[in-house]
Amino acid sequence: MNLNELINYLNGKYNISRLNIIKKLSMIEKKDIIEYMFSDPFISEKNVEKLEKNIKGYPIEYLVNEVQFLNNIFYIDERVLIPRVETEDLVLIAKKIIEEKNIKKILDLGTGSGVIAITLKKFFPDIEIIASDISFEALEVFKKNCKKNNVNIKSYLGSYLEPFLKEHEQIDLIISNPPYVEEEYKNKNETLKYEPDIALFAGKDGQNFYRKLINKYYDLIKNKTLLFETTEFNVLKTYDLIDKLSGKTEIKKDSFGIERFIYHYKNSHKD
Ligand SMILES: C[S@@+](CC[C@H](N)C(=O)[O-])C[C@H]1O[C@@H](n2cnc3c(N)ncnc32)[C@H](O)[C@@H]1O
Repeated sequence: MNLNELINYLNGKYNISRLNIIKKLSMIEKKDIIEYMFSDPFISEKNVEKLEKNIKGYPIEYLVNEVQFLNNIFYIDERVLIPRVETEDLVLIAKKIIEEKNIKKILDLGTGSGVIAITLKKFFPDIEIIASDISFEALEVFKKNCKKNNVNIKSYLGSYLEPFLKEHEQIDLIISNPPYVEEEYKNKNETLKYEPDIALFAGKDGQNFYRKLINKYYDLIKNKTLLFETTEFNVLKTYDLIDKLSGKTEIKKDSFGIERFIYHYKNSHKD
């Protein structure tokens, strides 16, 4: 069907504006928006279906299998979380910490699509960066993204720090954007419903990941620099958990000024 016919059809069915349709279509067809402004191109049935799926709530990122994260392009699909803009701030904060401190080895715990590990590796090609995830499927996407972005990063399959029980000493910085959503949002939130549960949910108060990390792996992490993402709504709960470690714990803000990240370091690391 042609664009104008499609616009009439969708407008009648979903009451969606012409501009909105064109914006979505330009993303799906990976074409400049201008190509739809003054002409009436043919839109394939496959792309009409994709557009309608998106209008009904399916994330555009999974439809186009692509996201931009800082300056790099990543492949994504339903096996991994859709990277969020806040996580770009996490990486930029990490970059500053790495530049200021003598960090030689970094672990990205719960790497998913690999946006954190891969972006850091591109910033710091000479620093050793490793990545882990509990999900085999997520690590398949991670490996695809390493190739796509021409970086070499060793990955480990396993829960929490299990893969590093014997070789954790060299890791200076653990960075993580783990699951931190409260269980009650399961099946309630439209955007979260298509993403893997394992990437999102962390018990009743959203703190299960952090609680277990502190309780079970205290000795492994106690001397490390830590940088974690959490939600603005639970940042104090996460702070309290991480602050059980000896050393200093700080809350850091994202670029919208929202308190979202937890930074922990040994006092001696600070100066
Ligand atoms: C919120 S997603 C973050 C993905 C990616 N780092 C990002 O920022 O877009 C959390 C990731 O942690 C992984 N994960 C969940 N529980 C884990 C665990 N116990 N050990 C290791 N990884 C875990 C999930 O499979 C998922 O890929």
